[in-house]
This record gives sequence, C-alpha cells and structure tokens, in this order.
Amino acid sequence: MSDSPTGSPADSPSDSPSLTRRPQWAALEDHRAQWHPHLRELFATDPGRAERYVVRVGDLRIDYSKHLITDETLALLQELAAATDVFGLRDAMADGERINITEDRAVLHTALRAPANAVIEVDGENVVPKVHAVLDQMTSFANRVRSGEWTGHTGRRIRNVVNIGIGGSDLGPAMAYEALRAYTARDLTFRFVSNVDGADLHEAVRDLDPAETLFIVASKTFTTIETITNATSARSWLLHGPGGLGEDKAVAKHFVALSTNAEKVTEFGIDPDNMFQFWDWVGGRYSFDSAIGLSLMIAIGPDHFLEMLDGFRIVDEHFRNEPAEDNAPLILGLLGVWYGNFFDAQSHAVLPYSHYLSKFTAYLQQLDMESNGKSVDRDGKAVEWQTGPVVWGTPGTNGQHAYYQLIHQGTKVIPADLIGFARPVGELSDELKAQHDLLMANLFAQGQALAFGKTADEVRAEGVAEHQVAHRTFQGNHPTTTILAKELTPSVLGQLIALYEHKVFVQGAIWNIDSFDQWGVELGKVLAKRVEPALTEGADVPGLDPSTAALVATYRELKEV
Ligand code: F6P
Repeated sequence: MSDSPTGSPADSPSDSPSLTRRPQWAALEDHRAQWHPHLRELFATDPGRAERYVVRVGDLRIDYSKHLITDETLALLQELAAATDVFGLRDAMADGERINITEDRAVLHTALRAPANAVIEVDGENVVPKVHAVLDQMTSFANRVRSGEWTGHTGRRIRNVVNIGIGGSDLGPAMAYEALRAYTARDLTFRFVSNVDGADLHEAVRDLDPAETLFIVASKTFTTIETITNATSARSWLLHGPGGLGEDKAVAKHFVALSTNAEKVTEFGIDPDNMFQFWDWVGGRYSFDSAIGLSLMIAIGPDHFLEMLDGFRIVDEHFRNEPAEDNAPLILGLLGVWYGNFFDAQSHAVLPYSHYLSKFTAYLQQLDMESNGKSVDRDGKAVEWQTGPVVWGTPGTNGQHAYYQLIHQGTKVIPADLIGFARPVGELSDELKAQHDLLMANLFAQGQALAFGKTADEVRAEGVAEHQVAHRTFQGNHPTTTILAKELTPSVLGQLIALYEHKVFVQGAIWNIDSFDQWGVELGKVLAKRVEPALTEGADVPGLDPSTAALVATYRELKEV
C-alpha cells in the first residue's frame, strides 16, 4: 500500500481495473467459497485471536476477534486495500486535493481539528488559521452566553438555545448534546429543531420565553427549505408570538447563523457579525466539529469542545500514520467490505450500551448512508458490487427486547458493533451507578451469544422437549466488533466519530465511489417544490404521475372536509 501516492488519486481513476476484476477480489471470492469454520471452531483452534485481533486507538480498545476471519482473510483484505490504494486517497484527502470529484471540492474535515501550527493548503492557502479564528469567535460567543454577558433584546440573560438545522446541521450537535449531557450547563435549555413539520418548532418553543431565547440557524448553504422555513417561523414567534418582542431589531440579539453563505445569511436578516463561518471543503455530514457545533460548545463549554476536537485528532493521526495491520479505521472498513461484498450482508447494526449515545446511530446513518449510498463509481460507471450498508440500531439493552431476536435467530447476516464504557458518567446516585455492571453484562452476553450461540445438543442437555429443540437453538456465528473505553468523555466521543468517519472513507475508497457528494437527495427536494403549490393553492401540477395525482387529490379533499 503506497504511503506516498503516485499519480493523483483525486483525478479520475479510470486506468485502474474494475474492482471485481482485480485478482485480489478473485482471491477473496475463492476464500469465501471455501469458508466454513464457525466462530466456536475458530476460537477453539486459536484462542490467541482474542488478544491478536484487538486494535487500540486513543482510549478505544477495539476487539474484532468475533469476526468471521482468519489471518488469511485479513491478509487478503489488506491486499485489496493496497491494490485500491486506500492510503493514497487518504493522503490526497489530508493534503487538500479535490477528491470530491463531482462537486470539485477538497475534503478537509480533518483540518477542523488540526493544531494551530499545522499547515493545510487549499489552492495554495493555509486554511488552519481560518479554522482557529472561527474557533476563537465561537469560544468568545459561547462564554458570553454561558456567563450571561450576552443578553437578549430586553436585557434578560439567555436561558434557552434552539438550534435550527437539518441533516448534518442538526444530527451532529443534537447527538453530541445527548452524548455529553453530563458535561452540559444544566441551567440552560437546549432544543434542536429540524423537521419542517410545524409541530417540531411548536413543541420546541411552546414553553420558552422569547426574551430569553437564542436561535442558532445552522445551514451550510442557507438555502435548505426546511431550515429557512423553520427559521422564518421562529423569527415570527420571537417578534409576534406569545410574549413576542415586537421590534425587528430584536432579531440581532436572538439570531445567529452558522453557514458558508454570508450573502444568504444577510438576506435573511441576520447580522453578518453574528455569523460563524465554515467552508465548502467541509461536507455537511462532516461538519459538526466546525461552526456547526456552536450549540454544543455553548452547552459543554469551550474547553470540553476543544477536548472533543483533540479526540478527533487522535484518530486522524492514527489513520494517517499507523501501518495497515494496526490501522483501526482500515480494519473496520475492510471487515464491512468482507460482509457486504462476500456474505451479501445488507445492513450493519450499531448498538451502543449507553443511554447517552441514544442518537449516535442516527448520526452514523447520515455519515455512512449519505456518503456511501452510491451506485456509480468515480467515473460515473454503474458499479457491479454492493456499496454502503443500511446502518441501524438503538441503545442496548432496549433493542434486546425488540429486534435482537432477528439478529440471533433470523436469516440475515447482520454484523454489529457493540459499544460500551467501563464507568458510568454524570451525577448518578450510587444505586444508579451500580446498574452499570448490569448494563455491561448485557453487552458482553450479547457478543458471546451472537458469536457462539447454543447448539442443539446444549439445548437437549437442558432437558428441553425434542419438538422445541430447533426453536431454542441459537446458530451463533454472528459477527460483532466490541468497542470499549473507560468513560464517555468529550475526547472519547470525538475519537468514536472520527473512527467511523474514516471507516466510511476506507469503504468508499475501495468501492471507488465519491463518498462526499449527495446528489441522491436532490430529486425529492425539486419534486416537493413542484408539488407544494398543488397542496396550498390547489394549482394544477403538470406532469404528475397518476398515483401521485390521486394522492394529491385525496389530500385536498380530506383537508377541506
Ligand atoms: O439534503 C442533504 C443535505 O444536503 C445534507 O448533506 C446536509 O447535511 C443537509 O442537507 C443540510 O444542508 P444545509 O446545512 O446546507 O442546510
């Protein structure tokens, strides 16, 4: 695998052979065709895998021993990574090359957490000073809000912060706010509004006092219809809702913007001095450690926010510097390729054993599915291989009592990540702290049950009636990764996110797709704009298909009844 790319991976890679025609792919196909061992057998013949298949990065201990792999599998996967020059593309990304080819953009979320003395150039300009200038601006603003120095229009201190954004401008801050709740200023209320369903904004503000409420309008483009609609309604509520402040000039003290688009921010009526900038080389789903994290910074304070960035950086440096065999994102990415492309796994479950990570998987859905949900390669040719999986999951132990049945005894291959911590966080009572062992016992038990199952003989030995044996047998052999850390700190959260960011990158590189565009979300947006007049004004919409036309007609009828 090249550490210094020859040629430019950012350019069209059309000279390379198609993925499935590579000899390394054929070797993996052969290996898969001969694959037979059960995890029970793999551990019985090679107990050392429990220690050997562990990779450490920062505070994370990542155990991948319960995977359907041997040393040979790993070697073959690594050969595929070398052949597809994953590290070459990684270096091109880190060096600011325009690897987002369909949007002709650099991909530099790693610059958002680079140290102040780093030099990362885009078109000959070092972007690091700009990143740190915005971090300083955010720090000063966050401190003013947290201390009460920044007051609202009537001089009252801000007690409520409402982030309005969607997708990457919502999921990151909303997820991280939940994840780090134990670190948040408990005297402030934080709400996150994303859905254009008016109920979302209504429920977010119905019990708030406008005089004490700050809206953070987060939108990279500042043209996203949901966000602009909600922000417009929020401004009406601020000025003319119950307890409204009346005067337009109140907006300056109650609205700030996070965006790349100063012109649109000004057009909306937000003072450009109250705008926190980021840049087109930060993808929406990679943006929450940019200005998009302002609500989080206000919640947890600048120091904790910077600790989180340090966590990201630990994994960035690991990904950039560790050799392939010790490189955690590379290994996790390859394991996903092994299941998705050679076992026909369609989905990947992420199961955090932490209530605070309740939104973590939803966040990863955008990161992974918007990045790698592609069906043409970087040259625009249809791919002949599976790309990104469906990512899903919710915190354990709740999921155990809902859908784990299907993972244990269903017919699908579902690799899963189990994430847990040795210590609980927060101001829990001793009694509640003691529950943590039970939580983690469940995590370990699930990994064990999924891997080793329960044989028919074991079931019979328990005296189970023969007609029930098949029902009570667990085939096992379900692969899991277990990610353990001491505690869910800001740094550990940053490490976890960067781990998944780079894992997704690795897979996109192997599949030869552009992981950084998202054209697939455009068509629905365009059609919604076209259909809307038919719903609001009863206008005729030419070109509606018969099914949609009938649905629109029914909607109009029901609306009027
Ligand atoms: O519609 C998808 C998307 O473009 C995401 O990629 C992005 O995170 C989200 O919309 C929000 O976009 P913006 O931050 O420009 O409002």
